[in-house]
Amino acid sequence: MSLLITGGAGFIGSHVVRLFVQKYPDYHIINLDALTYAGNLENLKDIEQRPNYTFVKGSITDPLLLDRLFTQHDIKGVIHLAAESHVDRSIKDPMAFIDTNIKGTAALLNACKAHWKSFEGRRFYQISTDEVFGALGPTGCFTEESPYAPNSPYSASKASADHLVRAYGETYGLPYVISNCSNNYGPNHFPEKLIPLCIHNILEGKDLPIYGNGLYTRDWLFVKDHAVAIDLVFHQGKNHETYNIGGFNEWKNIDLVKLLCQQMDQKLGNAPGTSEQLITYVKDRPGHDRRYAIDASKINKELGWKPSVTFEEGLQQTIDWYFDNEEWLKHVTTGAYQHYYENMYADR
Ligand code: NAD
Ligand code: TYD
Repeated sequence: MSLLITGGAGFIGSHVVRLFVQKYPDYHIINLDALTYAGNLENLKDIEQRPNYTFVKGSITDPLLLDRLFTQHDIKGVIHLAAESHVDRSIKDPMAFIDTNIKGTAALLNACKAHWKSFEGRRFYQISTDEVFGALGPTGCFTEESPYAPNSPYSASKASADHLVRAYGETYGLPYVISNCSNNYGPNHFPEKLIPLCIHNILEGKDLPIYGNGLYTRDWLFVKDHAVAIDLVFHQGKNHETYNIGGFNEWKNIDLVKLLCQQMDQKLGNAPGTSEQLITYVKDRPGHDRRYAIDASKINKELGWKPSVTFEEGLQQTIDWYFDNEEWLKHVTTGAYQHYYENMYADR
């Protein structure tokens, strides 16, 4: 069977593509990715020669390309990860998020509707985020019943896309599943997000920018555990249902960065406390969500999923990966990245 995975050259997508290509030799995995700044074929070089893998460079917003792909291949399922994914960029340039995350998802849904004459054995899987639920107070968790209340252009664009998926299910009977996951971390993470940014900056001796008072809380999940959850939801999730995925692992940003500093100091052979000196409080992100936390008991009970590593183990594996992949880090942080970085923090 042919399976279309969008955004497979990105952070999470590359782990999903690798898992599916290796675990399901009978599937033909088609990875459609526009290779924006966040897409990187180096993420997949170990599997690019596999006979059951095809890479297609192109945008999900291109209906002619989608038409060609759906005509050429009997695509039974879509796992949709392609997106603009960074909240800070969405604050600076919301339109790119509207385009890819909303219009791109609509174009994909339309392609499924046009080409899937029967919905039997087909499935559209929307990979979404817990950020669609907005911000939590000091207690409680997001459940599958939490109302959508997105606060950033990024989360609003993801929420819109989720609503479109649901609407295609209700209106046309499109078989779909949606999962809403917490913050991922791990290998291949682009160093604009908190953890890889701090790893990179420690290596470069640069400041570690903590937004606001640093007491904002996120729930962190190792990316390979997310990929396993995606495999389970795609194969065993129920149509028209949503699943929350999380690490049962809440951290205040400042505590997380301090833990990261300790592990980096050990790895670098630094005296304890060395990297913490780089911590710098900067102007807050506008509309910054106070706290996210996921109740992942549904996927745990119904599909038997739970995270496989502790945060300390996952963080150590992540740090080791960045040390072993200096070239990757060098490639993604040269050129446009410098401009991004200077621009992002210029007014803070
Ligand atoms: P990422 O930014 O690392 O990767 C996104 C990928 O999509 C890149 O390879 C990029 O080239 C591709 N892409 C962007 N625009 C495209 C377009 N128009 N057409 C085709 N490809 C395009 O993102 P990520 O962190 O891997 O996130 C993947 C998905 O998971 C996103 O939908 C995101 O909303 C969701 N998600 C992410 C997290 C997280 O913590 N990173 C958590 C929950 C959900
Ligand atoms: P981020 O990794 O951008 O993910 P998201 O905004 O999707 O949760 O940010 C995680 C948290 O870290 C968030 O509360 C913002 C904060 N943050 C900083 O304090 N400094 C930084 O340089 C970055 C990138 C994020």
